[in-house]
Amino acid sequence: MKPLILTVDRWNPDPSAIKRAASVLADGGLVAFPTETVYGLGADALLGEAVAKIFAAKGRPADNPLIVHVVSPEDVDRIAFVDERAARLMKLFWPGPLTLVLVAKEGVPSITRAGLSTVAVRMPSHPVALALIEEARCPVAAPSANRSGRPSPTNAQTVVDDLNGAVDVVIDAGPTDVGVESTVVDATGPTLVLLRPGGLPVEELIAVEDVVLPQGEEIKRRSPGTRHRHYAPSVPLVLWGEDDRAWREILSQNTAVGYVGIRKPPVAVAVEVRFGSIEGYARGLFSALRYLEKRHVDIIVADWPEEKGLGLALRDRLRRASAMEEDDLPLP
Ligand code: TXA
Ligand code: MG
Repeated sequence: MKPLILTVDRWNPDPSAIKRAASVLADGGLVAFPTETVYGLGADALLGEAVAKIFAAKGRPADNPLIVHVVSPEDVDRIAFVDERAARLMKLFWPGPLTLVLVAKEGVPSITRAGLSTVAVRMPSHPVALALIEEARCPVAAPSANRSGRPSPTNAQTVVDDLNGAVDVVIDAGPTDVGVESTVVDATGPTLVLLRPGGLPVEELIAVEDVVLPQGEEIKRRSPGTRHRHYAPSVPLVLWGEDDRAWREILSQNTAVGYVGIRKPPVAVAVEVRFGSIEGYARGLFSALRYLEKRHVDIIVADWPEEKGLGLALRDRLRRASAMEEDDLPLP
């Protein structure tokens, strides 16, 4: 069955459309909706059978827990223990692209947490997401609304392309603003640990709290979402760092090259997607990857940004998009 598509005004979504979508959530159905980062695939976080449908729809590995979306810091009290530091972070950065991993309370189904004793929570800033969660009167579990392993969706059409029959309702409010997913931080220990760089630059967190940036095996152990191949386009992707090695390798072959990035490529390419800023690159990366595969290029070259601000999130997504095997992560 095709999903019901509800097109709404992103600043003032039609209340009757929101009511309709919320009632689908209350009945244990799946609703894809925009957040400021990417589109999410939502279900009532406290209904195990509804959450199970998310894993089935995405083909998501059962060991990868979901983020639970709320409309206020107070809402978190139902699902997790909030200490003074977590309350402070919520006050500073919510609503917005920061996800906090906290100790879960009883009542959060095991499937939502992938069996862990912790739960990830976030309050999105998108008016449509807030209206939907408010109207549904339940915390909403929502991973990015893509098939597992594919680039995340930043518009409604991509959700339909990826999930079509597996989602009941898609709320279309146009493209998302940030384009990369939220920054995920483990807030259960003495020091915050960055689990996934994202839409909130980690520098902003470091300005107010100590943050540990784990590397390699350590990050895999702590962060289930990093264990699997992700963000991969259907064509190989190589990274263009400071030297021109990526280009030399490609030019020796006779291939149609697609390019995505900020810098001007040193050679002519078949299809080019260029952005004027790091914010633009973050906003457009995932849709550019999907666009380039549709243009039938043989290989994609991606600009490897500086390691600061949104560049951290972009490097993480690009590194994983370029890996052909889970443990094969070539860097420029
Ligand atoms: O911006 C976003 O975060 C989007 C929108 C829809 O809110 N959501 C999103 O969800 O990106 P997803 O499922 O694609 O990524 C969730 C990340 C994964 O890396 C997952 O492993 C991690 O959060 N995560 C969730 N719960 C966790 C937990 N209890 N402990 C550690 N990591 C957790
Ligand atoms: Mg995802």
